[in-house]
Amino acid sequence: MERSPEIALCLVCHNIDCKSRGSIEVGEAIAARLAAAGSTVEVKPYICFGACTEGPNLVLYPQGTWYSGVQPSDVPEIANHILGGSPVDRLSEGVDPDLRELILEILDSLGDL
Ligand code: FES
Repeated sequence: MERSPEIALCLVCHNIDCKSRGSIEVGEAIAARLAAAGSTVEVKPYICFGACTEGPNLVLYPQGTWYSGVQPSDVPEIANHILGGSPVDRLSEGVDPDLRELILEILDSLGDL
C-alpha cells in the first residue's frame, strides 16, 4: 500500500527493552528539537513494536519510517528528517520488513494514536 509522505507523529517505544536503552531520553531530545523548530509533529510514547532487542525503536507516522538502534547521537539527523530533510537510512536497515508492515497495519487500524 502506498503510504502518505506526511509525518504527524513520532512514536517512541517506552517498553522495558527500549526504555533500558534510552528511548525516553531520545524521544525527549527529538521533541525538544522539534519544539525549537516550531514543528507541529508530536512525539508520543508507544507500548511496544515487537522488535525489543533492536531498540530503541521509533516509528514516524503515517509515513511509516521505522528507526531502530537509535542513539542520542542520531537525534539531530532524525529531527532533520522529521523537519523535511533526508531519511537516516542506516537506522532502517535492521528493521524486519514483514514486522514493519504488520506494525503499520496495526497503527493504521488504531485510528486515534
Ligand atoms: S521494548 Fe521497544 S519494541 Fe519492544
